[in-house]
Parts: sequence; structure tokens; C-alpha cells
Amino acid sequence: MNIIKITKENIEYGRQSIELFFNSKTFNQHFLDLPNNVMYVALDEKKVIGMVYGYIFDRPDGSQKQLFIYSIDVLEAYRKQHVGTHLLKHILKPLEEGQYRDAFVITNHTNQAAMNLYLKAGATQVTPHDDQDVLFVWKNQ
Ligand SMILES: CC(C)(COP(=O)(O)OP(=O)(O)OC[C@H]1O[C@@H](n2cnc3c(N)ncnc32)[C@H](O)[C@@H]1OP(=O)(O)O)[C@@H](O)C(=O)NCCC(=O)NCCS
Repeated sequence: MNIIKITKENIEYGRQSIELFFNSKTFNQHFLDLPNNVMYVALDEKKVIGMVYGYIFDRPDGSQKQLFIYSIDVLEAYRKQHVGTHLLKHILKPLEEGQYRDAFVITNHTNQAAMNLYLKAGATQVTPHDDQDVLFVWKNQ
């Protein structure tokens, strides 16, 4: 398995992931014009098997940026093989390097796979267990 960041040079993998996970044929190339939009895909040879994307926010106080992970998906046949964990590692690397203040993601408390994925990737659950939507945060150490 290989993880790559989607750029204009490898946009065919972006298109593949849009078809797989969004059921759409149109990749919005404008997404790649904005450096604060980030998307990584996991590949098995040349086949996309997973995707994560998110948005990097500038803060008005001029301090470090923040990352919002909007969506992560792994093809059913490839789940529970740490593909999701590897995708998170890549999108969170700038945080580890001290480039972001924090990163966050929202899921539903009934999504046990996502809850475990984020906890095992070192996130802290911020909202209570009985809330429908659960917020997880990774802090810059
Ligand atoms: C959530 C999702 C991305 C996880 O991807 P994945 O590649 O299967 O996750 P990983 O293999 O990296 O698993 C990470 C940890 O979560 C646990 N986990 C994964 N799926 C699980 C499940 N169905 N039930 C319980 N725990 C699960 C794993 O056991 C693993 O822990 P481990 O290191 O002790 O083995 C995947 O299930 C998916 O695509 N789901 C549908 C889309 C979705 O719900 N996305 C999240 C929206 S917020």
C-alpha cells in the first residue's frame, strides 16, 4: 500500500476516488487550486482503496493553522488493515511537525469503526459519549 497526496500531476487518482466514494464522475479541479485543501489517497498498485480529505484553516490571530478532517473512507474489502490509520498519519504529519495548532474531526457515536480509528490514532474525544455527534481533537504537543 502506498499513500499519495492528490495534486494536478496525479489527478487521475483523485478522479478514481471521487467515483468510488462520492459516486460522481466530476473531480472539482478548483479544489486543487487552493493550497488549504488537502486530499490523500491510499493505493493498492494503481487502484484507489481509501481516501481522506480536509481543510486547513488560517486563524485570525495569526498563530498556527488548524486542520479539519472532513471525510475518510476505505473500500470495504480493505477495512481493518490499517489503511485508515495510514491515511490519518499522512494528513496529520504537518501537525506532528508543529505546523498546525490542532486538528479535528466529527463523527457519530454509533460509528464504532470511526470512533476506534480516531482514538487509536491518538485523538482525544471532546464531546460526551451520548452526544449524537462526537468531536475528536489532536493537539500540537
Ligand atoms: C472508519 C474507516 C475509515 C476505518 O478504516 P480502516 O482502514 O478499517 O481502519 P483501521 O484498519 O486503520 O483501524 C483503526 C482501528 O480501528 C479499529 N476498527 C476499525 N474498524 C472497526 C470496526 N468496524 N469496529 C470496531 N473497531 C474497528 C481497528 O481494529 C483498529 O484498531 P487496531 O489498531 O487495534 O487494530 C472505515 O471503516 C470506513 O471507511 N468506514 C465508512 C466511512 C466512514 O464511516 N468514515 C468515517 C466518517 S467520520
